[in-house]
Amino acid sequence: MSDDLIEAARKVRENAHAPYSNYFVGAAIRSDGGTIYVGCNVENVAYPEGTCAEAGAIAAMCAAGDRTIQEVAVIAGSDAPVPPCGGCRQKLAEFANGDVKVTLATLTGVTKTTTVADLLPGAFGRGHLDSGS
Ligand code: THU
Repeated sequence: MSDDLIEAARKVRENAHAPYSNYFVGAAIRSDGGTIYVGCNVENVAYPEGTCAEAGAIAAMCAAGDRTIQEVAVIAGSDAPVPPCGGCRQKLAEFANGDVKVTLATLTGVTKTTTVADLLPGAFGRGHLDSGS
């Protein structure tokens, strides 16, 4: 069930630091061990230094020693569920199989569920490194 993940993402979204875009995002990741890791976007006055919510959740997961994503939820305050940016799709693919479920949610309860593979078809993966060396 994604409900607890969506709730965790909703809660951490409140801590987002987004004074420039005013676009507040929360992300929650369930690792294979069942632990939930959360992250929010953290913007910076030097714009490129800002980080996405998904990146924050992935960093928390890695810092805790977990490496495998079982499920993801991302929430934003937009009318429709907004999909992860391109960079975050690649970051998720680093730690998630293609069939991992990604639930995109709005504050009003609209959800869209997709998978890591659907978000990043033709992903660059470890196999490409092996065949290129
Ligand atoms: N943002 C995320 O946190 N995740 C995404 O997948 C899309 C974009 C943030 C980055 C920036 O702080 C704000 O949303 C507007 O782009």
